[in-house]
Amino acid sequence: MDRKHIKIGLFGFGVVGKGLYDVLKETPGFKADIEKICVKDRDKIRPIGMENFTFNKYDILNNPEINVIVELIDDAEEAFRITREAILKGKAVVSANKKMVSDNLQELLELQDTSGLPVLYEASCCASIPILRNLEEYYDNDLLTSLSGIVNGTTNFILTKMSGENLNFETALRIAQEKGFAESNPSQDIHGTDARHKLHILILHSFGLIVPFEDILTVGITKINGFDLQYAQEKNYKIKLIARSFKTGDNKIIAYVLPTFVNSGSFFYQTDNEFNSIVTESAFSDKNVLVGKGAGAFPTASAVLSDLSALTYDYRYEYKKLRQHNFSSLSSDHEVKAYIRSQKSTDLSTIFRDIDEKYENGKYRYITGSINLNELKSSVYLTDPNVSIIAMP
Ligand SMILES: NC(=O)c1ccc[n+]([C@@H]2O[C@H](COP(=O)([O-])OP(=O)(O)OC[C@H]3O[C@@H](n4cnc5c(N)ncnc54)[C@H](OP(=O)(O)O)[C@@H]3O)[C@@H](O)[C@H]2O)c1
Repeated sequence: MDRKHIKIGLFGFGVVGKGLYDVLKETPGFKADIEKICVKDRDKIRPIGMENFTFNKYDILNNPEINVIVELIDDAEEAFRITREAILKGKAVVSANKKMVSDNLQELLELQDTSGLPVLYEASCCASIPILRNLEEYYDNDLLTSLSGIVNGTTNFILTKMSGENLNFETALRIAQEKGFAESNPSQDIHGTDARHKLHILILHSFGLIVPFEDILTVGITKINGFDLQYAQEKNYKIKLIARSFKTGDNKIIAYVLPTFVNSGSFFYQTDNEFNSIVTESAFSDKNVLVGKGAGAFPTASAVLSDLSALTYDYRYEYKKLRQHNFSSLSSDHEVKAYIRSQKSTDLSTIFRDIDEKYENGKYRYITGSINLNELKSSVYLTDPNVSIIAMP
């Protein structure tokens, strides 16, 4: 189907959907028209005329004039149903939904292979940061050794407010929601699941591996308290939620999402508020850093716009690294330096292979030292709400 002139069927008119509508109005040189918008809530007051909307997805999916579906809804299961039906009906798809993409990586590959149609999802990983097409195109030959990043704007915003303005977790989260950074269900953000979805997708495009989602060790930011922030302040560290993946000598991939202390020498130290940053390391180009807004209406819409533009020249992800089979599997057999803080009554020492520092006061204790990720994965500390786990710089 010719996509030189894009006729969009848009699903969702929330933060990003409305953002895209505004961005397209501001780019008149780009030939893309929104033909119809499908939304869910019949009672909501809309900022544009009701003739633009439908509540029936088939008004869009069965419209032969529409050649591209832009899926910007907050329901991953329905988003996948829409994506599958759109592809089967011969329409290209652009999505910002990391949960939908990550939950269905294998199926999305098969749908694209059998139909020859593209599903693009640049906005799903770090919104405005152009990472996926860079991983697919720029890093397709240079041997990538690691990719780490602050990939969730909401948690970075919350952590910035908690440490910089001494706000408590609840207040910082409320401000993030008011600004449209936090997902409608913030639990995905604060428990690290959103970052895990992004890392899951990034591992495919970085290393060509679809790893089991549940195997990516993930700790969110909900257990970080004033004591941890004070520890960070005393050492001149900041706390960031970092998603990390890198290759080992035996062609396995280590991947995890952990709150991490970063010092002023780290690229991540300067990445505050809703900004995201990604550091790639590769054999020949050494380190590259990409920084940008990882959430919000316009930054996210700008990545969607970039995907729409890519469709006009028939771009699709080739997943070359997946077809090369360079990596065998995900592994957690890796030691990291960590800080673990608990109530004074909890015994922490058993998980440490080496201890660097121990401290306790009347209420809390912490230990820093080396731990093995495999042991952390199966330890009770992971789910104990009173135990904070933070990787050392
Ligand atoms: N917000 C960000 O900064 C950001 C950044 C990167 C990626 N994303 C991703 O972008 C997507 C949209 O996020 P958002 O922040 O724009 O969400 P949002 O503000 O909560 O808006 C969601 C929209 O989806 C519509 N919707 C929900 N279920 C639907 C269904 N079954 N059929 C049709 N429409 C449906 C809602 O309709 P009603 O208007 O009728 O309620 C609403 O317009 C999500 O996948 C999110 O993960 C968001």
